[in-house]
Amino acid sequence: MHPNTYFDVNQNSWYNYFMAILSDDEDLRGNKGALNKKNPIVKPENIEYDKTFENSIRPKDFDSYIGQSALKETLKITLEAAKLREKPLDHMLFYGPPGLGKTTIAGVIASQMGIDIRITSAPALERPRDIIGILMSLKGGEILFIDEIHRLNKVAEEILYPAMEDFTLDMTTGKSQTAKTLRVPLPKFTLIGATTKAGELSSPLRDRFGMIHRLEFYTIDELAKVVQRTADILEIKITEEGAKAIARRSRGTPRIANRLVKRVSDFAIVKYDGIIDEKVANESLDILKIDEFGLDNTDRALLNLIIEKYDGGPVGVETIAAALSEDVRTIEDVCEPYLLQAGLLQRTPRGRKVSPEGYRHLGVKAPSEQQTLF
Ligand code: ADE
Repeated sequence: MHPNTYFDVNQNSWYNYFMAILSDDEDLRGNKGALNKKNPIVKPENIEYDKTFENSIRPKDFDSYIGQSALKETLKITLEAAKLREKPLDHMLFYGPPGLGKTTIAGVIASQMGIDIRITSAPALERPRDIIGILMSLKGGEILFIDEIHRLNKVAEEILYPAMEDFTLDMTTGKSQTAKTLRVPLPKFTLIGATTKAGELSSPLRDRFGMIHRLEFYTIDELAKVVQRTADILEIKITEEGAKAIARRSRGTPRIANRLVKRVSDFAIVKYDGIIDEKVANESLDILKIDEFGLDNTDRALLNLIIEKYDGGPVGVETIAAALSEDVRTIEDVCEPYLLQAGLLQRTPRGRKVSPEGYRHLGVKAPSEQQTLF
């Protein structure tokens, strides 16, 4: 057979052949069908929404999705055009700090289009058979959502290129002179990638996305609406000022706002009359050690460390992570984006520096202010 012949994946012989390639030794010895039992990626619990708190309050349509208005407007047009053309959506890449709604917007896109979404993340696609397995099990028109897509390994990326571009899987079998490339057609699908680090994506992968969009931190007003919506769903009583007080300390991040609503609601029920007003919100958040900027103990420890041990910086992120016994990734992906955005921390080629605002926030005199005393 010619190496470029297209094979119907539903044709049993070829399907079994690929299953054998995908599966482990046991399958090669003839134990077919083990893939679905053994490969965690195709287990529904890993690829469908799990029924956690976050999922129970996720908005499902554009109307209930608050904020990111520029993105929503663009998406409405894109979705409408795809429906009129009766073509799948372009592949999309969403990037930005964690908790801003990258998974949520992917879910909204799926439900607005009336199509299914399969959710996975790059660390779960470690072996070639993981990505091949999920691609081959996609149904036509489905969305494949890959979180933390910057962590895909080279092999997985190379499998994705023809899948994204031509909806095919290119497989090489045999060695050197007898090697053959088999092209297996895939159903047309839309890949939605999400990442906190767009800069770490290889350019060939980045170039294959038709739409690339950065999610922004939310304003206080937007977050107050998120808080109000979540409180309504959870039947928590909250005043407008109470919602604003929580919003102010939520670091521009709906995921944090939603967590704080629940935490503050516990305080409201146990220590107050069950209603979250401004006073209840502020007192509860003070007890939780979340300050007026939304900084928690780790954020303050990070700023304090740089000020006290490194004269305000610059100091490398590895040093900071080691001193705080934190993971470099947690510092870079979780703590820093908001500290940078809030202007409390600065990134320089030689490392991180606390800004004059950072000093002020901690009630410490900045070096420039100290010098002016003399
Ligand atoms: N919960 C989390 N993100 C949200 C958003 N953008 N709008 C409404 N509720 C949310």
